[in-house]
Amino acid sequence: GMPGWVALLIAYLSGSIPTAYLAGRLLKGVDLRTVGSGNLGATNVYRNLGAVPAVIVLLIDAAKGYLPVLLLPHRVAGVWAFERQEYTLWAIAFGVAAIFGHLKPIFLLWKGGGKGVATAAGVFGALVPAALGVALIAFIVVAAGSGYVSLASIVAALTLAIATPMFAAGNVPLIVTAAVVGVAVVAMHGKNIQRLRAGTEPKTFGKKKEVV
Ligand code: G3P
Repeated sequence: GMPGWVALLIAYLSGSIPTAYLAGRLLKGVDLRTVGSGNLGATNVYRNLGAVPAVIVLLIDAAKGYLPVLLLPHRVAGVWAFERQEYTLWAIAFGVAAIFGHLKPIFLLWKGGGKGVATAAGVFGALVPAALGVALIAFIVVAAGSGYVSLASIVAALTLAIATPMFAAGNVPLIVTAAVVGVAVVAMHGKNIQRLRAGTEPKTFGKKKEVV
């Protein structure tokens, strides 16, 4: 099979693809790191480029995590079944590598990245889809109710950490990974949390839409 380190590198490179940055450059000639929140994620694409590019970026950023988790373990471990230990541990490792790539993309020389929400959704959609489903519902409820995507992302990340043990069938590495990724995604929202507390966070959805 493929050497594990090669597959890890592929997963990291997959996560590194700067989808939001490319959308900004190609559609508007703008560096999204310099406008709006400065974040290279679907939310800032929505803010600056509109709904259709945002949905496309969201789906690609999720695929950057989903596909490595789905495809690479078989190449390395030679088995498909998630129940097999050798598959599971590699799947988790590739997911973490993809999320890390999204946060620290080599293609932008590690300057700027996203907050990991969409890519983590793709990763956990492959690892533990039922828990991701619960987190997705939490995201939609909070986003629609509050208008804040950042708050929805934070609540969804914590929901994922709490829901994973319920669906992971005692898979300790997976439960720990969901907790670590959940906390990491919250930590990436430090600036958003400051703005939410100060009442200056811009709303993405709802009637009283503000501008950054
Ligand atoms: O996807 C990140 C989202 O939770 C917040 O994005 O641009 O409002 O900081 P942004």
